[in-house]
Amino acid sequence: MSTHNPELQPPPHLPPNEAIQPEAPDFVETPDMTPGLGEHEPLPVWLYLVCGFALFLAGTSFTGFATFGLGIMDQGPGGAAISTAPTTEVAETPMSLGKRFYSGNCAACHQASGEGTAGSYPPLGGSEWVIGNKERLAAIVLHGLTGPITVKGATFSAMVMPSWQGSLSDEKIADIMTYMRATWGNTANAVTTDEVAAVRAKYASHSSPWSEAGLIKIAPNGPDPSDKK
Ligand code: HEC
Repeated sequence: MSTHNPELQPPPHLPPNEAIQPEAPDFVETPDMTPGLGEHEPLPVWLYLVCGFALFLAGTSFTGFATFGLGIMDQGPGGAAISTAPTTEVAETPMSLGKRFYSGNCAACHQASGEGTAGSYPPLGGSEWVIGNKERLAAIVLHGLTGPITVKGATFSAMVMPSWQGSLSDEKIADIMTYMRATWGNTANAVTTDEVAAVRAKYASHSSPWSEAGLIKIAPNGPDPSDKK
């Protein structure tokens, strides 16, 4: 009698597609890889050196260290500013500032020459209002002027002189006054920021443009008491 041992049974017949196929390739060929691509090759040493040097240069822009005296990238504290402007910069004076502020704010009406325009804008060169009392002049600039006013013998009344108290600082007004008083043949003395500030404070409640009569009340024609020439 035969004992049937199931463990000794021959393997079940495999379907042909699972059976070993001797003709099939035993590995799937992968396409040729470009050598180096995707591999982590060490970076060349020179690249580290170049990057390191670039970082060093960038760092010097913070420390103000002038690289080899070239001042490359110098913009940080202590470094020479990158500038093509001539190094001999002329220091600003009240006169040079005053000229600039005058050009920007006043010359449109009174002209760069300070001659004004006959019949509408009175002249500033030789004007008794410009070379006279400083308080009076500051008052004109701060609050403006309206109505007939006699300047160098001619009467002006067609236009209104605007007020500048809202748009020009005491310092700028002082610079403009200093410039006007020493230009176009004028030779009156300079005006300080404090002098303008005092006039601004004194007439703080004065909101309308001055009239000639109001200005004459501040001071009559004639040089300012501080003008000792
Ligand atoms: C929009 C035109 C205009 C501008 C801008 C102007 N002014 Fe005048 N200014 C006048 C007119 C007009 C008068 C005369 C007003 C009148 O007829 O009552 C005058 C009068 C004056 C006077 C007194 C009269 C004289 O000729 O001395 C002074 C000083 C003066 N201006 C200074 C200035 C200054 C300084 C500025 C600039 C901050 C300035 N003006 C800007 C129009 C202008």
